[in-house]
Amino acid sequence: MTENHSISSRPRVLSGMRPTGRLHLGNYMGALYNWVKLQHQYECYFFIADLHALTTDYADPTALRQNIRDVAIDFLAAGLDPEVSTVFIQSHVPQHAELHTLFSMFTPLPWLERVPTYKDQQEQLREKDLNTYGFLGYPLLQSADILLYQPDFVPVGQDQVAHVELTREVARRFNALYCGQPTPAIEKAKADHSDKEILIAELSAPAATNGILPEPKVLLTPSPKLPGLDGRKMSKSYGNTILLDEPEADLRAKLKTMVTDPARIRRTDVGNPDVCPVFDLHKVFSPEAVQQEAAEGCRTAGIGCIQCKGWLADSIVKEIAPIQARRRALEADPEHVDAILWDGSARARLRAIQTLQHVRQAMGLE
Ligand code: TRP
Ligand code: SF4
Repeated sequence: MTENHSISSRPRVLSGMRPTGRLHLGNYMGALYNWVKLQHQYECYFFIADLHALTTDYADPTALRQNIRDVAIDFLAAGLDPEVSTVFIQSHVPQHAELHTLFSMFTPLPWLERVPTYKDQQEQLREKDLNTYGFLGYPLLQSADILLYQPDFVPVGQDQVAHVELTREVARRFNALYCGQPTPAIEKAKADHSDKEILIAELSAPAATNGILPEPKVLLTPSPKLPGLDGRKMSKSYGNTILLDEPEADLRAKLKTMVTDPARIRRTDVGNPDVCPVFDLHKVFSPEAVQQEAAEGCRTAGIGCIQCKGWLADSIVKEIAPIQARRRALEADPEHVDAILWDGSARARLRAIQTLQHVRQAMGLE
């Protein structure tokens, strides 16, 4: 063990991911790739949001167990280091559910109804009945996820900014409601005119003036727009993805079908990389020199699209081959994966229990 988990002066970061199956390159570049870098700079908590998966997939949880396992292995294979980061499963830390319940007591219903993802997702996932209590509470559960650990930053994509904003409002309301008042011990010491007792009471009160729950900030993670094979945003629901675990032969075959500059019909036509989705992937995965050679060859009809895609395949393989190798090793050792998650969840619980102690006390519970 090289770095110390329990005491750290580095700023804290927390983020989560719903287990929705094998990750594709869009998921990887949008989140995990950044997390792996963040862990050397921050004290990091990363978790699998299995309760959040149930908010939309409650009617058919058959795939959930396998999805959790797949995401866990993707986390580790991509390079999250359990010796450095705390990697855990949301539902293994029951304090997430408890804090969610406590938050639900003072969160005004309109705050949840006006979160943009609420109506959007209901529209988009019409085949599911999302007229549920749990789905409305999705961003409040997320607020509990975040505030349990008092992170300084929450690295997320643009689509999650509204949820972090709600989290800040929840923290503010909690602090205003429960942390503005002196505790009974402070009041008694003041009535007794005992300066020493006042000081002791203030020191033992949980952050009575600043509030118990500091407001976290969004850390907007740079996420390049990754096009899928059809040129639209890469997304599982469009069926246009390349998996992080894609076998090399399939990856090459898939890329051959990818759309290119529509004006480049024949091999002898010149093309324009600026309007070609294949080139967008080059920009993410290929070294500068390869990008230049491809762009030049395209503009002069010096290379064909097949060759250009072959170079892209080489670049992607180079990025994902080590991840795939680590995945194979982890798949062969499920006990090791379990032990890592067990250990991470235990560590997360320690911190979560502390927060809950303060919150319960502030809200009048024994
Ligand atoms: N809602 C997030 C998403 O869909 C996942 C998530 C759940 C999360 N809890 C979180 C992200 C807490 C950051 C912090 O991507
Ligand atoms: Fe796109 Fe490459 Fe074909 Fe140019 S050569 S159109 S960049 S695939």
